[in-house]
Amino acid sequence: MLQEKYYPNKEFAKQARIKNMCEYQELMDWAKEDYEGFWDHWAKEKIDWIEPYDKILDESDAPFYKWFVGGKLNVTQQCIDRHIDVRKNKAAIIFEGDRGDRQIITYLRLYREVNRMANLLRNEFGVKKGDRVVLYMPMIPEAAYAMLACARIGAIHSVVFGGFSAEALRDRIQDAEAKVIITADGAYRKGAPYMLKPVVDLALEEGCPSVEKVLVVQRNFEDVIWIGGRDYSYNEMIESQPDTCEPEVMDSEDPLFLLYTSGSTGKPKGVQHSQAGYILWAQMTMEWVFDVKENDTYWCTADIGWITGHTYIVYGPLAAGATTVMFEGVPTYPDAGRAWKMVQELRINQFYTAPTAIRVLHKMGEHEPEKYDLSSLKVLGTVGEPIDPPAWKWYYDVVGGGKCAIVDTWWQTETGGHMISPLPGATPVKPACATFPLPGIMAEVLERDGTPVAPGEQGLLCITRPWPSMIRTIWGDPERFKKSYFGDVVKEGQPVYFSGDGAVVDEEGYITITGRVDDVINVSGHRMGTAEIESAIKKHPHVAEVAVVGRPDPIKGESIFAYIVLKDDVADSLGEEVELTKEINEVIAREIGNIAKADAIVVVPGLPKTRSGKVMRRILRAIAKGEEIKQDISTLEDPSIVEKIQEAVRCAGC
Ligand code: WTA
Repeated sequence: MLQEKYYPNKEFAKQARIKNMCEYQELMDWAKEDYEGFWDHWAKEKIDWIEPYDKILDESDAPFYKWFVGGKLNVTQQCIDRHIDVRKNKAAIIFEGDRGDRQIITYLRLYREVNRMANLLRNEFGVKKGDRVVLYMPMIPEAAYAMLACARIGAIHSVVFGGFSAEALRDRIQDAEAKVIITADGAYRKGAPYMLKPVVDLALEEGCPSVEKVLVVQRNFEDVIWIGGRDYSYNEMIESQPDTCEPEVMDSEDPLFLLYTSGSTGKPKGVQHSQAGYILWAQMTMEWVFDVKENDTYWCTADIGWITGHTYIVYGPLAAGATTVMFEGVPTYPDAGRAWKMVQELRINQFYTAPTAIRVLHKMGEHEPEKYDLSSLKVLGTVGEPIDPPAWKWYYDVVGGGKCAIVDTWWQTETGGHMISPLPGATPVKPACATFPLPGIMAEVLERDGTPVAPGEQGLLCITRPWPSMIRTIWGDPERFKKSYFGDVVKEGQPVYFSGDGAVVDEEGYITITGRVDDVINVSGHRMGTAEIESAIKKHPHVAEVAVVGRPDPIKGESIFAYIVLKDDVADSLGEEVELTKEINEVIAREIGNIAKADAIVVVPGLPKTRSGKVMRRILRAIAKGEEIKQDISTLEDPSIVEKIQEAVRCAGC
């Protein structure tokens, strides 16, 4: 039986940039017939080049692809300067604080703020092109200024999500060898101040010799320690900075930023993005997928610590000349109507959030949206994890009133921007389905040998041609870059980009993402490597062995389930597992952050291992789900361990 389809709103489709599937198909055909010509057209039309490029795509050193080779530009000119003539008084950023305070930052003000911060970094701190600057920031306008100030002077920013611990922050500072850290004293969440600067202090206590200065934005004015010669107040220093700053002339392929993300091994990867290719696709997807128009107000609820915050709060909307809303708080505070109240008051036209947030809002206030005037909404987006049909339906019916397009956007930190997504004026959508690749994106679901999977079968989601906004390398580790993305799937003799996700294509070509097929789990849309969590847990002195798996969770999508084997000398004497669970979660919070805490921690007598010592995670996943074990366990070193683990899980009540 074919799944039910939802067609675009006719009125909306008439004015959309891509109005129907014929137009979509034409664009796709164009890209297939003349791949480079397609991208050349858009790069010329969309980007304000300082100097034109002389080669569209250089594949000579694959997979280290280069786009728009020899071109010169500055991303902040694309995002700010070129808008000054035509929309200087338009709101670039509308900021809403946790406690309801608001600020409107026009394009002219953004220009001045970014230039002043760029001057501060360049002239007072000596930051130069290519230097790394780590941002550990709350969701305040200064976070966007800081990213853009780095881009203005050619410094490479690396934003570290504010929920990461001092240890995790330190690892990222060390890997990038950052010269400057930009942070805030703290900010506000759920009506109360919380702190960031003390975490930076702790991170810098040892092993960060590269760091020369720390710039502190005072947001909540709580007491913090100031270290003379290292820590400086942004609020004090910024006053005297000139508000024009010569943009650094950047090459298309110079790095714009690093963003650390989790892979299947322990160490996070510094995903490196480029200037031209990245900004081009950020802008194009803003225009195609959200169909943002001149007078629209667009709100993405992500945090700037993740790629969604980079591409769809800062770079994409600003490159498109849009008005982007930045929100410090959480959508459930002071109550489950907060987000809807903001939509009503700011007349939001496009709303972009994660399935976890949709599930939470649904659960906390099923009828809450009906109390507000949400008639301004045109496009609703989801990102970060698979959405389930009930959440999709609620989003469509209750939030969108049955008249909004839902764009289920599939993409990754590595892809820079959307890859597979409905187009709001064109694509007939099926609930909880990302539908088709965007024009220019050659996404295919393949077997390892590069053959396409049959309809309805699960395969590996791959991108078979390089695209402009793709990851360029892993900072400092080009070999790992090759191995992580271009090692698993080979099509016609050529390694192709493999995303780590599984997907299914139906008879009509609709692509549904089924989730990660590697050792990465996705908790509330936060990507985490099981190996990373395991190496944190191993730091607990009583732990001999550990295996972490994901377990389906009705709200968070997945939750973290840890199996622990204790060291022999403590195994018997330890009566209190509750204590141990608490301690292990404390270790995780210290090593990674609260976001990686486990929901279930079970002490087991051993792990299911093959004779060669490989842990059979599939069995552990099945046990965590409470499923029957169907696979052959006779190849295990000790088949009886399975029953013992099941018993331990039952006793623990997990
Ligand atoms: C998952 C977030 C299903 C996927 C932009 C991917 C999704 C990972 C979707 C990347 C979606 C993202 N449907 N799954 N629409 N979007 N994912 O790097 O597993 O934080 O590989 O980028 O999120 O997470 P990341």
